[in-house]
Amino acid sequence: MKVLIVGSGGREHAIAMAVAKSPRVDKIYCAPGNAGIAAQAECVPIGAMEFDKLIAFAKEKAIDFTIIGMDNPLVGGIVDAFEAEGLKVFGPRKNAAILEGSKAFSKDLMKKYNIPTAGYETFDDPKKAVAYLETAKMPIVLKADGLALGKGVLICNTLEEAKAGVKEIMEDKKFGAAGNHMVVEEFMTGREVSVLSFVDGKTIQIMSSAQDHKRAGDGDTGLNTGGMGNFSPSPFYTDEVDAFCKKYIYQATVDAMAAEGRPFTGVIFFGLMLTPEGPKVLEYNARFGDPEAQVVLPRMKNDIIDVMEACVEGRLDQIDLQFEDNACVCVVLASDGYPVAYKKGFPIHGFEKFEGKDDYFCYHAGTAFNDKGEIVTNGGRVLGITATGPDLKTARAKAYEATEWITFENKYMRHDIGKAIDEA
Ligand code: AMP
Ligand code: GLY
Repeated sequence: MKVLIVGSGGREHAIAMAVAKSPRVDKIYCAPGNAGIAAQAECVPIGAMEFDKLIAFAKEKAIDFTIIGMDNPLVGGIVDAFEAEGLKVFGPRKNAAILEGSKAFSKDLMKKYNIPTAGYETFDDPKKAVAYLETAKMPIVLKADGLALGKGVLICNTLEEAKAGVKEIMEDKKFGAAGNHMVVEEFMTGREVSVLSFVDGKTIQIMSSAQDHKRAGDGDTGLNTGGMGNFSPSPFYTDEVDAFCKKYIYQATVDAMAAEGRPFTGVIFFGLMLTPEGPKVLEYNARFGDPEAQVVLPRMKNDIIDVMEACVEGRLDQIDLQFEDNACVCVVLASDGYPVAYKKGFPIHGFEKFEGKDDYFCYHAGTAFNDKGEIVTNGGRVLGITATGPDLKTARAKAYEATEWITFENKYMRHDIGKAIDEA
């Protein structure tokens, strides 16, 4: 069969590698893709938001199955647009992708259906938000309602910071229209765990857990980023945590969406905080995480097409989802200056070291070909250097070893990805 993947980051590269392993697939396209994805897929220069062009392409090439990797097209209704043309597509419809697209929606849903999360209030008037903050306990968390590339969250330690945050989000519109509405949320403490799941509208199956490193600098300092590296599984995701989440969070979320007339099909990413009172939902995403996909998919034993097709066809209950009993660690190589300002276009060397190894992966996130045909840096997050091993410590040592194989000007990485493994 022919498969089209929509997106261009490390997550889409991980999806492309998983799809390439399926014996059912003979041709993969990726729109727009990147220089690394070009090894698995034919990249086509169509943007992820160009729905009409993507649909025309899918029809012209007789694509059998399309996988949407990114949040923006999902929230914008790409699945509805493909389905309206009779095309088979993996991902939530617009009315379900709102689970990620609006934090106010997801908070209201959790409240209505008693799904554990931080206490909150929503505002569309900055004056009312400030009046509320004047009586609130600090620290406190401000969240722009809409999509903001994972950056629309401000943790404020003082009233002054919180007031400045309201101005940034709601008045200066630093995160654009995402800031028309704002959620003010109670500050929670604890370890964070990411859990990905496949969902078919009614059934949910959990993938292996992961832990992200969102801050740019070592020791969790600096600005929030899309993610600087991660590992799977999380040793903190114990059987007890799993049992709690299965009882109060996972199926409850899927049932709540169905009850609202918004059945969810695709991947739900649960951002969880393991608080002293038990696991609570930090956020939902309506897609694979990036770089969570990079550490979870290499550990999946199933044919990804079998699983995704079962989701679309509402028969996920017939799938026996299985993961290897191993571990995987990803260290992101970024351009120095990310997530603020950075230069692009530097040639990258060392890819050949990864060839022929099935326990090392070099996922491309922000790369392109220059006019000489060389692979160059083309983004903040450039590569996700990833390794599997029998346990987390071995996988981490291998991933860091492999970060040395790659060289480019302005190369930046965190040196403490997976430090928490030593505390487990
Ligand atoms: P989100 O995009 O909602 O996952 O938020 C980004 C990051 O901000 C999370 O990964 C947490 O580290 C932090 N965060 C978000 N909400 C809270 C909260 N209520 N309490 C403490 N930290 C939070
Ligand atoms: N790594 C977090 C995300 O994809 O949102």
